[in-house]
Amino acid sequence: MIPILNLTRQYEQLKTSIDEALIRVAASGHYILGPEVKAFEEEMARYLGVKHVIGCANGTDALFLALKALKIGAGDEVITTPFSYMATSESIVRAGAKPVFVDIEPDTMNMDVSLLEAALTSKTKAVLPVHIFGQAANMDEITRFARQHNLAIVEDCAQAIGSEYKGKKVGGIGEVGCFSFFPSKNLGAFGDGGMCTTNDDELAERLRMLRVHGSRKRYYHEESGLNSRLDEIQAAILRIKLPHIDEWNHARQAVADRYDAQLKPLAQFLKTPYRYTDSKHVFHQYTLQLQGAQAAKLREQLQQALQQTEIQSMIYYPVPLYRQQTHADLNLNPADYPVCEEISDRVLSLPMFPELTLQEQETVTNALADAFKAIPVHA
Ligand SMILES: Cc1ncc(COP(=O)(O)O)c(C=O)c1O
Repeated sequence: MIPILNLTRQYEQLKTSIDEALIRVAASGHYILGPEVKAFEEEMARYLGVKHVIGCANGTDALFLALKALKIGAGDEVITTPFSYMATSESIVRAGAKPVFVDIEPDTMNMDVSLLEAALTSKTKAVLPVHIFGQAANMDEITRFARQHNLAIVEDCAQAIGSEYKGKKVGGIGEVGCFSFFPSKNLGAFGDGGMCTTNDDELAERLRMLRVHGSRKRYYHEESGLNSRLDEIQAAILRIKLPHIDEWNHARQAVADRYDAQLKPLAQFLKTPYRYTDSKHVFHQYTLQLQGAQAAKLREQLQQALQQTEIQSMIYYPVPLYRQQTHADLNLNPADYPVCEEISDRVLSLPMFPELTLQEQETVTNALADAFKAIPVHA
């Protein structure tokens, strides 16, 4: 079986230090927002080159806390991408604001910045780009647009830790960066975890206040916030993993390079991921785009063929956010997002993790080549 992701190999690699850390925290008597979290926040701030890191319970809360810290709520609009995980737009709704989707670029699958101007209204307060699959959105244009119209930028970096846009790490480009440490992420905890990053002292203070029920001083609450704290055990594990993140992201890039090379003979049937040459993609996912008029049907057959040879593949994301029932009240018309409509029928993600072996990769690409030979639909 070749899974889309294998987490035990990473644990085996770091087993001694992780086991030690688990016991150390258990014996310490500090379990939430203690010395491990504090040390992790400092180490992470150094790694990302940001002034403040605020640990929290998960990436979804990080997005909500960022919007609340920016005082975005009822009556406000936030421009975002429809090609993401539900947490992105759900957080906007949870803050009381309205998500306004712009279509995506066909190659990077990130927010199409040429559509920002048309999405702007007098209610727009922020832009929320997602660095999808580990590749940064066009932050030059997003920043120019936001500055021109006095909007905040909240970066959804859940899939993109260590990713760079023109030499700058994501999470430090906009007002707030939001990260997830869900176990499957490039830097994953042993449960839920997340963080906000910012260079703004006042926002940092608000984020710290909001993560503990809107309280700066215990039992004095100035604003309703959340219980969204990072556990000591998660912070201790993340501290052990953090020094390896660049090496793991490089390993992911090497896996992507090999896929690119091995899939070249199939270029008429599929497009391998587009990569900016001046930015660093960290390949949270390696996502193909199937070609041809019947891509969705072809994808179904390919997935079945891969499954028969015990290779896991996934569709991120089959249903764009504007089509989700959650957003039915927004009355959005899918025809307004033609690129996203097409892309969600074409995408297929292959096994991707730093420890994926050369042999496993060859098994995947050989299985794909065999499947194309056997499937008549693309002819
Ligand atoms: C793009 C994106 N945003 C936000 C989240 C939410 O993170 P979490 O699962 O930690 O709440 C995720 C993760 O699943 C994600 O992929």
